[in-house]
Amino acid sequence: MEEFSKDTIKSGLETQIVGQKIYVYNKTASTNDVAWSLAEKHNSEGVVVLTEGQTKGRGRLGREWFSLPQKCVLGSIILKSNMLSEKLNLLTIGTSVAVSKAIRNTTFLPAYIKWPNDVVIRGKKVCGILTEKRKTKTGFIVVGFGINVNLDAEDFPRDLCGKATSLKIECAKKTSRVELVQKVLFEIEKMYLYLRKGEGSQLFDEWKEMSSIMGEQVRVILPNEVAEGQALGIDPDGALILRLDSGISRRITEGTIEYAYCN
Ligand code: BTN
Repeated sequence: MEEFSKDTIKSGLETQIVGQKIYVYNKTASTNDVAWSLAEKHNSEGVVVLTEGQTKGRGRLGREWFSLPQKCVLGSIILKSNMLSEKLNLLTIGTSVAVSKAIRNTTFLPAYIKWPNDVVIRGKKVCGILTEKRKTKTGFIVVGFGINVNLDAEDFPRDLCGKATSLKIECAKKTSRVELVQKVLFEIEKMYLYLRKGEGSQLFDEWKEMSSIMGEQVRVILPNEVAEGQALGIDPDGALILRLDSGISRRITEGTIEYAYCN
């Protein structure tokens, strides 16, 4: 079996900031929590926390994140920037672009983005992203990602059947988690440097090209209501622009797309 360790990941890693320090655990509660406990330490920008298994993996909106030991890529990165913390949505979107590109480059699978934080293949979720900020003086941000890599169809709990997939299911062979994580870190660093320099426009073009919902009729579950309309794109802050059935355009900053006619 492939060795998933700090050394194998570091050898051949082409990054300057992200992954300069990598921790690989056998088991953790949530890698986001481990990252937060490291975030206040000196010089933690770019620190990466990976684990073989998670006992308390969490998703958006307080949901649980399903994973199985040694079959997934579960990680969190500590990033830093006060400017970026205002634009958390943008960072989530940038990470979904980065992970989609890494999946495409590693497996040649048609990975697409489902706003705001999912990566899907043929309409089923293969990766979730959880970006968190906390009120700290240092302004760190933690970006967590969970990718279903070598799971088989029977590994998924029943409630995820038809909704989630893995790279192995989609390409009928195992994917190297070391190669995948190297590419994910490389693409996340590229995106991070663009955003830090305020050069988000390239990201928007990539997002449009990789979006599974652009131009599609979608239904968005908001905290207190449901909005339906055509997805027109995202604005400079990463909010979704929806043309409602009434013809009015609406800006949506948080919500979950219930269905989309995905690629
Ligand atoms: C979602 O789609 O709701 C986001 C899921 C994010 C899951 C990852 S797994 C690694 C990191 N640690 C966590 O506890 N969550 C994220």
